[in-house]
Amino acid sequence: MAMRCRLVVLISGSGSNLQAIIDAVGDGRIPGEIVAVISNRPGVKGLERAKKAGIPAITLDHTGYADRAAFDRALQQQLETLDPDLVILAGFMRILPESLVNRFHGKMLNIHPSLLPKYRGLHTHRRALENGDAQHGVSVHFVTPELDGGPVIIQAHVDVAPDHTEETLAADVLKREHRIYPLVVQWYCQGRLRLEGDTPLLDDQPLESPLRYSEKLERRVG
Ligand code: GAR
Repeated sequence: MAMRCRLVVLISGSGSNLQAIIDAVGDGRIPGEIVAVISNRPGVKGLERAKKAGIPAITLDHTGYADRAAFDRALQQQLETLDPDLVILAGFMRILPESLVNRFHGKMLNIHPSLLPKYRGLHTHRRALENGDAQHGVSVHFVTPELDGGPVIIQAHVDVAPDHTEETLAADVLKREHRIYPLVVQWYCQGRLRLEGDTPLLDDQPLESPLRYSEKLERRVG
């Protein structure tokens, strides 16, 4: 990986994960540069966060395109121009076409608020509560054409408490998200993380199962 890897972050909303990554670039943990933030929704807080950090903030409003294919083409074109080393999906709530995902094979990450393969798709916190799960959490994975189905790199677990609501559980998971996403981007930019076939490798060690986040792990491999 080049000394400073070129990062593009795709968002649809608040961008708190984007902020965690901006902060980690800012304090030197991530040896990279966020060359653009792209949102498919206009006026979201994540775009403000980008502007405040001096990062080009691009809006590609999906409702302004004739159809899904036209939006997908515009996004692909934008990404080709930006030429990122890594595309980071951070609360980006659009399904990407297979061609685009394959174009960035091994160079696109997503964060999903569940312990994958549990609860792909939406309403993950509600589903964990409804099922009475003792543990819930978040996963960071390489993106493949299968929705929320790519190889998982790391997960952080959250104990579900009896008084958790959908909102408080989401908030507790989000705190974990802000720990693990910058860490994974850091590894990638340091050239320590890559995808070989379907297997992520960290420091040349195949991750047969996802890493489990803990502060000890962060001290050991962070
Ligand atoms: C995060 O909880 C992220 O895991 C989730 O959206 C939220 C975005 O928050 N992503 C997905 O559900 C993707 N399927 P943020 O905009 O504050 O980072």
